[in-house]
Formats: sequence, structure tokens, C-alpha cells
Amino acid sequence: MKKAKIAIIGGTGFEKLFISEEKLYVGTPHGIPPPISIGNIGDREVAFLPRHGSEHSVPPHKVNYRANVYALHQLGVERIIAVNAVGAINRDFKPGDIVIPHDFADFTKQRTTTFYDEAPVTHVDMSQPYCPELREKLVKCAERFGLHVWSRAVLVCTEGPRFETPAEIEMFRRLGFDVVGMTGVPEAVLARELEICYAAVCFVSNMAAGMQERLTPKEVYDISIKVQPKIEQILIETIKALPTERKGKCPCMSALKNARIK
Ligand code: HPA
Repeated sequence: MKKAKIAIIGGTGFEKLFISEEKLYVGTPHGIPPPISIGNIGDREVAFLPRHGSEHSVPPHKVNYRANVYALHQLGVERIIAVNAVGAINRDFKPGDIVIPHDFADFTKQRTTTFYDEAPVTHVDMSQPYCPELREKLVKCAERFGLHVWSRAVLVCTEGPRFETPAEIEMFRRLGFDVVGMTGVPEAVLARELEICYAAVCFVSNMAAGMQERLTPKEVYDISIKVQPKIEQILIETIKALPTERKGKCPCMSALKNARIK
């Protein structure tokens, strides 16, 4: 089977990013992910997986996150860059802004959030929930191209598929969260459980509920088309700039080392 060490997981409006002729239909013990494209960025083989399926047919709460992340693991992926649409809770953030979150809070309700349902009991450390090395590279590459990014933000992940209520958003703001999305969790957790480096490039598609008159998926989609060139540039430059081998300075690569009592 084809191999790739780097993967991009695309979200809303990014289903066709880096689409290539070569599609892989991968089976996993956790089910079947959408077809994965393999292409080249510079001299790197990169896997591209559209999170919601290539025709955007799987809602956020029904995405088979385990099949998606496990399939990439099977392809030899060591680093994942995820793309997510988010609503802004923080009033300083505006539609079109790019955000590289440094932390998240999980407000999902009915998702399978682990590969370790059985022995050995496994507790991965999430003190640094996103790969610090990958985040730094993303921020630096974006800034080198004169793009403004919010380099620190807390993302809250909700269950969806409905948007939040104004009261929920007000609660989230009081809790110190900056952006809200429906797909960041459990993807980041599952990647860590397989010792894969993971970071997210988010784009603000709307002000969250209660901060604008109403919310529609169309505006999320429209903004995604607008920011696509910027995000593509960040992804391409970051992937080219990544060292070929991981050096083990981040917590991701050895996440299982101290995660088990026995
Ligand atoms: N809420 C949840 N998820 C989202 C939003 C939002 O306002 N915008 C884009 N994804």
C-alpha cells in the first residue's frame, strides 16, 4: 500500500483540497473512512482525507473519527494538519481570520473518544493538546507570508449538528473559550493516542450565536471558499518546511510511554 508521513484532514469547504487521481480505499478495524487522496507537496508524499466525505455527506456528530485517524496511521502518517471552520466567541476575532488553537475543551456528548476501550488501561497526557512543534511551524510559515494568524486560542468543541444557543455561547465566553467548532474533538485525542503529531488550522466563518443575527451553513461555506487560498499557502509552506524526521521534542511521539500503569 502507498505510504505518507504527513496528512491533511479537510473540513467544510475543503473537501476537494489537494484532490489527486490516486485514491485509496482503506479498511480499518473501526470502519471505513472516506477515500484518501495521495499527492505530492514539494518532495513529500501527503495524504488528504476529507473529514465529512468527498461530497460533504457526513455530519460532524456522525464522522467516524476513529476510522479516519486509524486509516492515516495505517498509511504511516506521523503528522496531521487539520482544517476546521469555527465560529468566533472572542469579540476580537473576525470572519476570515486564521486561528491556530493551543488548547481545547470537549463539550461533545455522544462520540467515541478513544482507541483504548480495553486493557491495557491507557491515559494519554493532554497537557499540550496540540503538537507544539507543528503549531510553531504553522504560525511561522503564515507570518512569513504576511498572513495574520491568532497563534493562541482555546477551541470548544460542541456536538452539533445544530449551532449553539446564545446562552451556550455566553457560557463559553465566560469560561474563556475563543472559538467554537464541531469537529476538533475527538480527532486531536485519537491522533495523540496513536502518537501522531496533530495541529489544527482554523478559519473563522462567522461570529458565534447571539453575536450576529442568525447563522447559516452557507456563510460557513462561502467564507471557506474565500480563505481557501490563504490556508492552502500555509499548508504547502508548512509541509515543505517540516523536518523529514520527527526529533522527539514534542509530547506526541512518545505519548504512550508513560500512559499506562502496567
Ligand atoms: N458553531 C459551531 N461550529 C461552527 C460554527 C459555529 O458557530 N461555525 C463553524 N463551525
